[in-house]
Amino acid sequence: MIWFLIFLDLIIVLIVTLVLFFSLIGLIRSMGVPFVPLTKKQLESVNKYIKLNPNDRVVDLGCGDARVLRMFKKQGVKDLTGYEVNLLAYLLAKIKSKSLKIYFKNFKKVDLSEYNVIFCYLLDYYLDSLKEKFDKELKPGTKVISYAFRIKNWRRPEIIYTKTSRIFIYTIE
Ligand SMILES: C[S@@+](CC[C@H](N)C(=O)[O-])C[C@H]1O[C@@H](n2cnc3c(N)ncnc32)[C@H](O)[C@@H]1O
Repeated sequence: MIWFLIFLDLIIVLIVTLVLFFSLIGLIRSMGVPFVPLTKKQLESVNKYIKLNPNDRVVDLGCGDARVLRMFKKQGVKDLTGYEVNLLAYLLAKIKSKSLKIYFKNFKKVDLSEYNVIFCYLLDYYLDSLKEKFDKELKPGTKVISYAFRIKNWRRPEIIYTKTSRIFIYTIE
């Protein structure tokens, strides 16, 4: 009996250790995703050229500390959501933007069909992996606003040239 209890204890310790180990790996990996937010000037240029409507349903894919969403909030937009996997950026977003919907979640696992404005400031690699998802989920009329990076080999964008960069706007037909 005593051997059985010792064996059971060992199994429990092993399971707990494995759970802690994989949680730690997940945490370290999530912190490794680079968080490079828009600068004040870049943000001002988005504010100048992108004017949204109060009833738009907006999502920022990889919202960082949610500065873009807060800017759209000042424009009067009511429905604002952000997804972020960098833990530090997510916590900052939560602290700074109490009234916004901010989730610690991989945006690839989110159904995007409920949004009519998708904002992203993401590298080519990430944008490339989103094309198929956009094609599948986005409804006609939805706008995809990609700051600085073109979504290669996809639809034809309207391009806004700002002082510091370009903004690519795709409209789903
Ligand atoms: C260049 S930053 C832009 C931050 C913010 N949108 C801004 O403009 O200030 C890109 C963000 O996307 C996040 N990110 C990258 N892949 C992601 C994923 N699969 N799910 C959620 N967030 C992701 C990164 O952690 C990073 O904070």
